[in-house]
Parts: sequence; C-alpha cells; structure tokens
Amino acid sequence: MPQAPATQPLIEVLSGRRQAVPPLWMMRQAGRYLPEYRELRAKAGSFLDLCFTPDYAAEVTLQPIRRFNFDAAIIFSDILVIPYALGRAVRFEAGEGPRLDPLATPEEIATLATQADFAKLEPVYEALRRVRRELAPEIALIGFCGAPWTVATYMVAGQGTPDQAPARMLAYRHPDAFAKIIDILVENSIQHLVGQIKAGADCVQLFDTWAGVLPPREFARWSIEPARRIVAGVRKQVPGAKIIGFPRGASGQLPAYVEQTAVDAVSIDWATEPAMIRERVQPRAAVQGNLDPLALIAGGAALDRAIDDVLENFGKGRLIFNLGHGILPETPIAHVEQMVQRVRAYRG
Ligand code: CP3
Repeated sequence: MPQAPATQPLIEVLSGRRQAVPPLWMMRQAGRYLPEYRELRAKAGSFLDLCFTPDYAAEVTLQPIRRFNFDAAIIFSDILVIPYALGRAVRFEAGEGPRLDPLATPEEIATLATQADFAKLEPVYEALRRVRRELAPEIALIGFCGAPWTVATYMVAGQGTPDQAPARMLAYRHPDAFAKIIDILVENSIQHLVGQIKAGADCVQLFDTWAGVLPPREFARWSIEPARRIVAGVRKQVPGAKIIGFPRGASGQLPAYVEQTAVDAVSIDWATEPAMIRERVQPRAAVQGNLDPLALIAGGAALDRAIDDVLENFGKGRLIFNLGHGILPETPIAHVEQMVQRVRAYRG
C-alpha cells in the first residue's frame, strides 16, 4: 500500500487550515545559544565557510530539531549571500556583525552586477537537499532570503547601523539609483527562492528586518512593492508557493502589507497591537510570532505569562508560534524546553 503523504502542520496553517496545537519554530533557532552550534562554528573557521559547506550547514540546521522537535527547520544560511553572489565583498567579523564594501553613490551603483553567480549558492541548495532527506516528513523545511530593502541597507552602509540612515538618505536623494539596487535584488531573490524550493524547501520566508524605520510612503515603495513582486515572481515559476513575510516593525501598516503582497503568513514582532492583527490581518493570512525574546531569557512565571498571551491573542485563528525576532545567544536551553512544553500542551 502506498503511504499517504505526511501532512506538515506548518504548511497546513499556511494553506488556510488552523491547527489546534499551533506549529512551532524559532527564528535564528540554529545559533550561538546551542553548545553544539558553537563547537561546529569554531571548527568551520569563518561564518561563510559554515554557510557554504553543505555538511556543516545541514548539520547546524538539524541541531535544533533534534533537541526540540520543532515543526520546521530553517536552512542555515544568511541574507547577505545574495550580495556575495552579486560579487560584493562580504565578511563577518567576530562580535561586530557583517562588513561589506559600501555602495554609496549613483556612480558606484551603476557598476553593480545585475545577475548573481548562482554557482556560488549551489552549496545552499545542496544543504537543503541533504536536510530534506534526513528530516522527518511532517517537519517543514524553510528557505529564505532577505527582503530587498533590508539587504540594501547593509549593501549601502557596508554594515549594520542603528537606524539605517545611509540607505534612507540615498533613497531620498537618489531614488532612481536606489531603485536599481532594489530591482536587482528583486530579480535575484526570486531566483534564489525558486532555487531553494526546487532543492526541497517546503515554504520560504522573506526577512525585512529593517522595514520599521520607513515612513508610510517609503514603506509602500521599498518594502511592500518589492515583496509583492517577489511573491508574484516566485509563484509564476512555482504556482501555489507558500510564502511568509516578516516586515519587522511595520505595526499599523501590516494590513496593507498582507493585502498587497499576498503572502500566506506574516511574522509579527512582540510590540504589535493584537486586536488590530485579529481583526485586520488574521482573516486574510496566518500570523507568526510573537514572543518577546527577552521573556525567553527571563524564564519562569514571566515566560509562562508571555507564552499564554501569544496563545490567547492569536490561538483561535491561524497561528504559527514563534518569537517576535531571533533568539538571543544568552538564552538558556531549559527556557526553550519550557516554551515547547507549554505551547504543545495548548489546545486552541
Ligand atoms: O534562523 C536561522 O537559524 C537560520 C539562519 C539565519 C542566519 N541569519 C544565521 C546567522 C537567518 C534566517 C539569518 C537572517 C539574517 N541575517 C537577518 C534577518 C533576520 C534577523 O535576525 O534580523 C539579518 C539582518 C542577517 C544579517 C546578519 N547575519 C547579521 C546582522 C549578523 C550578525 C549579528 C549576529 O547575530 O551576530 C549575521 C550573522 C549570523 N547569521 C549569525 C547566524 C547564526 C551569527 C554568526 C556567528 O555565529 O558568528
């Protein structure tokens, strides 16, 4: 007898079918809070070597699944692999975050390659194939890329900055040059996401970590519109592709983001107003989030209360339980276990 294909709770929710026990995973779930990650990270040498060695990338992707049996694995990679494949210098300095050659003037932007060298990203696709082979069928595998605005903020400044002033300024002063960076990122992000789906990703997430620094007009142009084009471009090649958007800090603009991009789910940060989400977002899309990562560090009764708030706020609708942003390195593993037990005991 042929076996019925296993259903994946995460994909069920993305397909419009609410689950009584919300599927659960954590942004940045493979990372420095895990001793086994730190060990392999030291062995790999540089962060990019870790990303581009399929055995290593597959192994760190699976580490949090073995420990916590999450409903999804997210492929271990980074949003800055796209600038890297576009030929930009990308380095990760210990304790300092990413460093790129800045792209500051219209003259420099005119020299930017339009087509990424996807052979450089082949190790990412190979890691996805390996993970998919080893992962239990009911666990979803998530591919991802950075949203154009967020990736552009790093390309323009050459590093992370508190409020992304260099990219915001360039977008005001030279909107046509800035649009060229965004257009290049849109096209190459579509290819990279389709490549990940073909290699075994069951859905993909678009990380727009710095969306919240944009005023509404700029948000519509640099966050919503590129996301809309990416969603449409991916679905043109992969009809029905499941896509999660994460415009961090978008707050009151989340209804417009969901309506105009047509994402299947939106990931929300912990400061988002719950009633607005229930009334204007959850009827159209699944909601992913939104535990404060600091509550996960605090633990104890404060953590239980914060978990219950997320479940009470969104558990009656389509919910993917997650954090409001990535897990922090100082998080105790016992607190992650506490979270998993409490979420899995819930029946919505
Ligand atoms: O979620 C996962 O477990 C999958 C892997 C993943 C990483 N980065 C690995 C990583 C994902 C999804 C990302 C996305 C990413 N990368 C974003 C968007 C999401 C977010 O968290 O805001 C951004 C802005 C980046 C760019 C980036 N990469 C920064 C700013 C840094 C340095 C900051 C830091 O946390 O150290 C990185 C490095 C990075 N990417 C690490 C990991 C595990 C830490 C590097 C290390 O281990 O030395």
